Amino acid sequence: MIKRPKIAIVGAGGNVGAAVAQWAAQKELGELVLIDIKAGPAEGRALDLTQCGPWEGFNNTSFVATDKSEAMQDADVVVMTAGVPRKPGQSREELININAGIVKGICGDVKKYAPNCVLIVVSNPLDAMVFVAKQVTGFPRERVVGSAGVLDSARFRTYLALAAGVSVEDVQAIVLGAHTDKDMVPILSTATIGNVPVSKFLSPEKLNEVVENTKKGGATLTGLIGTSAWLAPGSGTALMVEAIVRNQGRVLPCSVELNGEFGVKGAFVGVPVKLSAKGAERIYEFELSPSEKEAFGKSVAANTELMNIARGFLG
Ligand code: LAC
Repeated sequence: MIKRPKIAIVGAGGNVGAAVAQWAAQKELGELVLIDIKAGPAEGRALDLTQCGPWEGFNNTSFVATDKSEAMQDADVVVMTAGVPRKPGQSREELININAGIVKGICGDVKKYAPNCVLIVVSNPLDAMVFVAKQVTGFPRERVVGSAGVLDSARFRTYLALAAGVSVEDVQAIVLGAHTDKDMVPILSTATIGNVPVSKFLSPEKLNEVVENTKKGGATLTGLIGTSAWLAPGSGTALMVEAIVRNQGRVLPCSVELNGEFGVKGAFVGVPVKLSAKGAERIYEFELSPSEKEAFGKSVAANTELMNIARGFLG
């Protein structure tokens, strides 16, 4: 029998998990399993999604929804969105004391029930949670990837397109480093619009404004909505799921453990990877500008600090 890929979303009762499910259902990526610590919200999200089927044309008429971790048995991809979101004025880093324990517990279940999956971590503080997931599962590094670079890059591309007054479709730009307001690294040196360097479209002042807007992109939305965003985080994560289940070999910025790449060993930050059925099967290194290199170094230092706090939860 030909099986469809099994995709388990943990924390699916929350906004980001539900958004991943929605985009994944729209893309017909596979069998979706919605797991949440509370059965009601998981079932409610699944039912709501099921009722989109008649107009959206999903060929799924039901989704598994449960509070039981066993439901992730033999999943090909597990998406971890569990944890509390940030509140207005709060940094992602402040969530570590609550979310590290939650992520640790669920990763134990991932190891037990879905030992061959690619695990996509979305919970914040992102890079430190990827570290926790890698430590707890013991999976090879290509199978533990963090979703944040796709989101931050989408914001970067959007702000560049808005500033230049052009279609976002023709804007190519990535954000590397940590998923924190302070330390993420929007890369201007390689950013292009229609293959032309962005410096031909925007002044250094405007580019600086775009970079600052990108860095505080999540905080801006949290301030406006009252909780953290979910549509773009869900869309970027579903893109990663798609790259894996369709073995696309997309080149996307993802948070992974560095093992000497970019001169860094043992830290988890966003870098460009080839994302395929194997997970982050390759990391691509390239020359950063001197200021980007410095910012990337600060990102690594910030991650190292958070990893040290997270280590306290691993014992
Ligand atoms: C954001 C959160 C989800 O950046 O990290 O919107």
